[in-house]
Amino acid sequence: MNINQNYLALQDSYLFSLVTQKVNAFKEQNPTKEVIRLGIGDVTLPLAPAVVEAMHKAVAEQGEKSTFKGYGEEQGYEFLRQTISNYYAKKNVTLSNTEIFISDGAKSDIGNILDIFDINNTVLVPDPVYPVYVDTNIMAGRTIIYSNGTEENSFLPLPDENTKADIIYLCSPNNPTGAVYNKEQLESWVSYALQHDAVILFDSAYEAFVQDESLPTSIYQIEGAEKCAIEFCSLSKTAGFTGTRCGYTVVPHALVKDNTSLNKLWLRRQTTKFNGVPYIIQKGAEAVFSDDGLKQIQENISYYMENAKLISETLKELNIWHVGGENSPYIWLKCPDNMNSWDYFDYLLENAQVVGTPGAGFGSNGEGFFRLSAFGDRVNVVEAMKRLRNLK
Ligand code: MLT
Repeated sequence: MNINQNYLALQDSYLFSLVTQKVNAFKEQNPTKEVIRLGIGDVTLPLAPAVVEAMHKAVAEQGEKSTFKGYGEEQGYEFLRQTISNYYAKKNVTLSNTEIFISDGAKSDIGNILDIFDINNTVLVPDPVYPVYVDTNIMAGRTIIYSNGTEENSFLPLPDENTKADIIYLCSPNNPTGAVYNKEQLESWVSYALQHDAVILFDSAYEAFVQDESLPTSIYQIEGAEKCAIEFCSLSKTAGFTGTRCGYTVVPHALVKDNTSLNKLWLRRQTTKFNGVPYIIQKGAEAVFSDDGLKQIQENISYYMENAKLISETLKELNIWHVGGENSPYIWLKCPDNMNSWDYFDYLLENAQVVGTPGAGFGSNGEGFFRLSAFGDRVNVVEAMKRLRNLK
């Protein structure tokens, strides 16, 4: 037998696993030092009370013969798909329930969607970028080309007419840089995709963090996007579901490539390889979008955005160049003293016991940069900023 040789082209460890290994090694050698983690974007506030209550009720239902549910529809229960469709209506986006697929989070679907595309498609990925886009395509053996996010273009690369791409990844608000595309910029991507018969894979996992109402929070707010884009969203960061797992993917009926409906292909793929998200979790997810749920998650989002502000203010005080944190929970900073990303990671860990994510882990354009997450506990964020100031 032969293995999938493409896996050998991957870096040894997934970025966040590597960071964890390094932190664990440091802790083993320095057991008395208290490490503050602002690395992986993992939430620290608990689920909203409305969500917990809905899940309790669902557990009780599952314990009664009359209300018990076995297999659900692979693409999600109608009640949740309708709720999400109503959420989109508030953004002036009309979606039918059959265009919405419930998932266990954006990461899985972003990787799995590649099943429905030919291996010979060229993939365009921004650099720096969430490593899942790159790794999943390396695993499949697809050709990847990059669009450069730099300080000059505010880490928001735009289409280049001389580049031919079939699959285009966009993430806005961006992970790792926190940059957000405005309407005109997204229009240029949609226009490129329509002209070149390409499909945009739009990751909107951080849409709920956008504070500036003029910025788009869904690709479908751009005219024509339903003919060229798939959108991935997640409740992980929006509603603290990193450990609970629920997200959704939108594949519009108007999205037809190679004379084939991509919605049909995705449905076929999901009904074969996925058995759906548990009923109890979907009930919790439905409650996120209730009046109480939305109010409660907004309080949590505001808490994280206040953390982002504290980080940003400290960096300003220290004259450290940075972006993000205004419409996203990530702050992207330039490593001081021209340090490279991993050196700065080691420096902060050893001297301040503060963990961030090295920009180089997100691509070569991330070298020399560093990402701090605003998802920490307030007390820890305040302490981490104090330690940063004391480093001066
Ligand atoms: C991150 O830190 O970039 C995210 O937590 C990763 C993820 O959402 O999988």
